[in-house]
Amino acid sequence: MSSQDIPEENLPAEQDHAHAAVTVADEKNPFADPGLPPHEHRIQDIDERAAKRSERVVALLFTVSMLATVGFIVSYVAIPHDKSIFVFPIGHVSALNFALGLTLGTALFCIGAGAVHWARTLMSDVEVADERHAIAASPEVRAQVHADFKQGAKESAIGRRGLIRTTMFGALALVPLSGVMLLRDLGPLPGTSLRHTLWAKGKLLVNMNTNQPLRPEDVAVGSLTFAKPEGLEEAQEDFQNEIAKAALMIIRLQPDNIKDKRELEWSHQGIVAFSKICTHVGCPISLYEQQTHHVLCPCHQSTFDLSDGARVIFGPAGHALPQLRIGVNDEGYLQALGDFEEPVGPAFWERG
Ligand code: FES
Repeated sequence: MSSQDIPEENLPAEQDHAHAAVTVADEKNPFADPGLPPHEHRIQDIDERAAKRSERVVALLFTVSMLATVGFIVSYVAIPHDKSIFVFPIGHVSALNFALGLTLGTALFCIGAGAVHWARTLMSDVEVADERHAIAASPEVRAQVHADFKQGAKESAIGRRGLIRTTMFGALALVPLSGVMLLRDLGPLPGTSLRHTLWAKGKLLVNMNTNQPLRPEDVAVGSLTFAKPEGLEEAQEDFQNEIAKAALMIIRLQPDNIKDKRELEWSHQGIVAFSKICTHVGCPISLYEQQTHHVLCPCHQSTFDLSDGARVIFGPAGHALPQLRIGVNDEGYLQALGDFEEPVGPAFWERG
């Protein structure tokens, strides 16, 4: 096939200029410019069937990218997050992570590979010599760049290669869906779950250190005991979510020292149970001053008076710690007499 058969837009327009040897070495230019080697046409430049084959390869890569993105979305929805698989030679890995990584990697790789193959086989490969020039571009240069860009777009044959254009836009349009799908991790919405805890009538108060149900005699005057609801174990998947709402502080006061009437009614022999979660931004409270009956949140120093309904006496917390009404069951164990009557933790949940 002769050069007359080469599509006109693929002919190297600057061929003669680009191949010219510019200078020989002299005093002003000590290094001779060797020019460019003779231009060699690619098979795709002279054989339209080869060009079509390349076009199909590029389209295939973009299509695989689209399928991989769909696979990413399907994997995200369908694969349980706790399922693991054995992958040689890595070993056991999360099936979901493996599928997401594989599909997203394939989608991105195929877009890149398709673009590279397109550029190497179908776009113009004319050698161009570009002389050094001042950094600031003159209006003429900008006009030239604009013209070059249009020429490049023409030479890429994006207008003529409809299959490539369609599949490329499809692949580029689908890839961002992977990121959109990840927004699902922001949900589901909490609904009313933050207004309720595991505490319910008859639930035993279990010591968080010993994991044993508490009796009144286990709570000494002046001590601070942390408790959780019976049945809540650390091995449970939702343990952290539930303990973050249900954690209790148990303190025994002299009934005469309890100033708040409701607090006294909701106590048992001076034993009171308050939420351990600070009403400012939710830190666990742990510092108890037994002489004053104050508890201090270590995060921003909110201080609550446990002898007076756990009202705030210092710091940024917006309201008192919720109290849990407690009693004793027939076997002598401390038990809850219901759930908290208000949401535990930061006050902003009440404003929603
Ligand atoms: S979280 Fe307790 S004072 Fe800020």
